[in-house]
Amino acid sequence: MALEASGKYTNSALRIGDVDPYAERKAGEFIGTVVSNASVNDEYKHVVLKVHPHALRAYAGQMFHLLCPSPDGAEVWMRRPMSVYRVDKANGQIEFLYKTEGRGTLGMAKLGVGDDFNIAGPLGHGFTLEPSWKNIVVLGRGVGLATLAPLSQLAAEQKVGVTAILSARHAGVVMSRDLFAGLGARVLTVLDTDNTSAVENVEKIVEGLIAEGKADAFFTCGSNRLLKLMQRLGKKHNIPGQVAMEQIMVCGIGACYVCMRTFEVDGEKVLRRVCRDGPVFNIQEAVGW
Ligand SMILES: Cc1cc2nc3c(=O)[nH]c(=O)nc-3n(C[C@H](O)[C@H](O)[C@H](O)COP(=O)(O)OP(=O)(O)OC[C@H]3O[C@@H](n4cnc5c(N)ncnc54)[C@H](O)[C@@H]3O)c2cc1C
Ligand code: FES
Repeated sequence: MALEASGKYTNSALRIGDVDPYAERKAGEFIGTVVSNASVNDEYKHVVLKVHPHALRAYAGQMFHLLCPSPDGAEVWMRRPMSVYRVDKANGQIEFLYKTEGRGTLGMAKLGVGDDFNIAGPLGHGFTLEPSWKNIVVLGRGVGLATLAPLSQLAAEQKVGVTAILSARHAGVVMSRDLFAGLGARVLTVLDTDNTSAVENVEKIVEGLIAEGKADAFFTCGSNRLLKLMQRLGKKHNIPGQVAMEQIMVCGIGACYVCMRTFEVDGEKVLRRVCRDGPVFNIQEAVGW
């Protein structure tokens, strides 16, 4: 919002075609136009927005803070943090994959084609790939699969091989499989329904990948059990890794300290802001939940 000479507040968020008066800034407020907002299964929806080109600076693991519309006419206080699912630079579009949980995401689920959607970002520090990593293992569960999905894009651009292990309660809620497979990743699905998602089984799979030389780094999100497993295997085999963390947020830009979490660095407990210092952190420094 900006205060104009008239004394009125106006929404200065950038729409497609607007000239950005601060073109060098890393993040901004944007009003995207909904291109589609379709269900991918019983729990998740996928929204595609046409946005100002400056919103396309987002990269894997970064997030936007979304001003969700109301599902019922009453106010929805605060923005909702959401990882970027895909950046489609060719079509000027940004995508989010989301679970309909409470009032914010229920309001989001009502967005129709052509509607405005106000998003602020891209925010935080996302995933990075070291040039020496030739093969990575991506292990995610639930909504964490949405956060990890753009790693497939990043890895494909940098010609890094990916094995994606997608963990879910049942086959109906496995997400991002096509995105990973379409970009050349080897995709393995593990489920609660046949117990293949059990930690012991996932450990066997990951140990196999390490033995094959396919695990130069680990990436995870969405499960405390899987985080602990990756930390343990990372320590045992000296394999680095990154984890995307979630926390309730208010400002999303590092000012309110609501999103603090404890991390352990060189044996000392330290507090960090998930929105600004993360949401992606060194896997060995994260303290589970
Ligand atoms: C960095 C980050 C990335 C995320 N990426 C995704 C994603 O890609 N897809 C997706 O579906 N969800 C994602 N989430 C979770 C998403 O923010 C919550 O599902 C959403 O805020 C719920 O809002 P609500 O109003 O529907 O639910 P409510 O439960 O009504 O929300 C009440 C309040 O709690 C907060 N809240 C509730 N659950 C969470 C949560 N898990 N994390 C943080 N705040 C929460 C809300 O923001 C709101 O302020 C992400 C969260 C973080 C922190
Ligand atoms: S949400 Fe305000 S500091 Fe992170």
